Amino acid sequence: MRETELNLNDLITPVFVDERISSKTEIPSMPGYFRFPIKDVACEIGRLMELGLKAFILFGIPGRKDEVGSSAFGKNDVVQKSVRKIKEEYDDAVVITDVCLCEYTTHGHCGIVKNSQILNDETLPVIAKVAVSHAEAGADIVAPSGMMDGMVKAIRRALDCEGFEDTAIMSYSAKYASFFYGPFREAAESGYSFGDRRSYQMDFHNKKEAIREVELDIAEGADIVMVKPALAYLDVISEVKKKFNHPLAAYNVSGEYSMVKAVEKMGWMDGKNLAYEILTAIKRAGADMIITYHSREIAEVLSN
Ligand code: PBG
Repeated sequence: MRETELNLNDLITPVFVDERISSKTEIPSMPGYFRFPIKDVACEIGRLMELGLKAFILFGIPGRKDEVGSSAFGKNDVVQKSVRKIKEEYDDAVVITDVCLCEYTTHGHCGIVKNSQILNDETLPVIAKVAVSHAEAGADIVAPSGMMDGMVKAIRRALDCEGFEDTAIMSYSAKYASFFYGPFREAAESGYSFGDRRSYQMDFHNKKEAIREVELDIAEGADIVMVKPALAYLDVISEVKKKFNHPLAAYNVSGEYSMVKAVEKMGWMDGKNLAYEILTAIKRAGADMIITYHSREIAEVLSN
């Protein structure tokens, strides 16, 4: 009689790679979650695959940042190197890469900035270049997260021109300007130096707008669309799934993870079971796949 069953194939595990460190480092606001140096990233993927996890999304923290994010697209930059190392050892790992500028720019915004404005159209060729560099390194799926209008189309066109017709696009289609991203900004050092992200991310008071954003991304060629965050946005997930029946990812974000960890630490609730229930609810709402920091614990829950 059980209608929804969470399994490991549903989960995508984020992996943070930091070009500046030589041993794994815990993220203070995300207890139990680490950044890895490039040299150890393949080993970590191997350990996660042993638990039965198959898909990973990589976030890079570069050694050098500038105004235009030029360390985001070099052949030997942090994500490109990491992807090559992973694919050399684990060809069957599904490697997804985050395509954004915020970790690579000194101002920390997701696009090119002039006079404190985030310039949508000037950003498109840059993120297209980032996506192509990830595909060249061997990424299976690129995941633009900057919420720039037209990003899926620009990336699809660039990938096709360079011979990467088979590289898929997972678009952060309905990404809300959310307070739930706080811990991630510490994890990826992508906090911004001025303003906020509300000129390009969505207002959490809105739902119809999410439907329009998803519709545009599907029309531009997104293979997978995404709603982010997940837990406080189950209504959006449900509506997007019902309306489009398109492959749908939900991002169970850093703040959702840290809340569970905090109550667990206080001894107030059982963290593992809480995570299992939350992820099952996200799947029940309509997500086909879930990006989550809980996947290691879920692997343990499911193997018992
Ligand atoms: C931006 C990006 C963010 C997250 C993923 N990609 C943060 C932001 O928009 O500030 C958040 C992920 C999380 O909170 O777990 N490239």
